[in-house]
Amino acid sequence: MTTTNAATYPKTAALMRRGAAFLGTEHAILCGAMSWVSERNLVSAISNAGGFGVIACGAMTPDLLDAEIAATKALTDKPFGVNLITMHPALFDLIAVCARHGVGHVVLAGGIPPKGSVEAIKDFGAKVLVFAPTLALAKKLLRSGADALVIEGSEAGGHIGPVSTSVLAQEFLPALAEDHIVFVAGGIGRGEMIASYLEMGASGVQLGTRFACATESIAHPAFKQAFFRGNARDAVASVQVDPRLPVIPVRALRNKGTEEFTAKQVEVAKLLDEGKLDMAQAQLEIEHFWAGALRRAVIEGDVERGSVMAGQSVGMVTKEEPVADIMAQLMSECEAALSRG
Ligand SMILES: Cc1cc2nc3c(=O)[nH]c(=O)nc-3n(C[C@H](O)[C@H](O)[C@H](O)COP(=O)(O)O)c2cc1C
Repeated sequence: MTTTNAATYPKTAALMRRGAAFLGTEHAILCGAMSWVSERNLVSAISNAGGFGVIACGAMTPDLLDAEIAATKALTDKPFGVNLITMHPALFDLIAVCARHGVGHVVLAGGIPPKGSVEAIKDFGAKVLVFAPTLALAKKLLRSGADALVIEGSEAGGHIGPVSTSVLAQEFLPALAEDHIVFVAGGIGRGEMIASYLEMGASGVQLGTRFACATESIAHPAFKQAFFRGNARDAVASVQVDPRLPVIPVRALRNKGTEEFTAKQVEVAKLLDEGKLDMAQAQLEIEHFWAGALRRAVIEGDVERGSVMAGQSVGMVTKEEPVADIMAQLMSECEAALSRG
């Protein structure tokens, strides 16, 4: 079950037509960038299977990104994109690296794109994809040059907003999907779900959790095992204990690290109350708690104290499978759903 030909799935292909044309792919299915996971091997496998792989630049330096793009190009001649975090201090140098490689699509994540960044990407002919938490912001970004939108609900793995995918889809798709390219992300584990978002007008979808433990993923075997064992209810959002302390919500598998994080917040809040830490020190203690934690889980396999970022669809990830098989499953489930009745 590894066909990558869109013609095998005619109803799905018809609804994915705009998204696939925008991405230059067979199927309008993106594998969302996952730091440490979305490197040359997974990204090229997704693109070779007819989807759209996205390199997670994360905290990489421009030189590292340069090498990663070159290595990915050596493994696929299909389109793939690069995800850049907007607050990266070298954002414009990273954009220049993408320009040198003629990257076709850049995804700007992690906040509102800084002044000039969308223009800098469009200047070398690439398309810009952005995330928008509210409809008003989405409209503003599209007016100011973004080419496509990803709406991502709180079911997703990694950094999340407060609103579920189903509600975001109802808010954004009727308002924007006719005139704009909108991809839906968060909580998608099966093709039936893809069918329903396509029927609501989405141009395509983005998945992370479902692809994170594919055969081609370099994630540590212990990270993959944690995914295969995990159920939806194990993928929990980080809890903020004290409103004074900054906690960016992240969805990850519950483990010793998530418990210790709660305890750490209580301890830091107490030190703050007692005047033993000032606010800046207290906030730094919290911000530093998870530093390097995703790498520890993905690369070193420390699934107890690392951050095992995973979405609620993790319960649908039960074994290691080649990307092409996962893609074919999603497409045939979607096609079957669209063919009913
Ligand atoms: C392990 C992991 C790491 C992630 N890292 C990033 C990241 O670096 N940048 C980003 O924009 N999104 C990141 N995400 C979000 C994914 O790109 C994708 O949007 C999300 O996984 C989709 O929802 P799903 O997990 O329910 O499929 C990450 C997700 C996971 C599971």
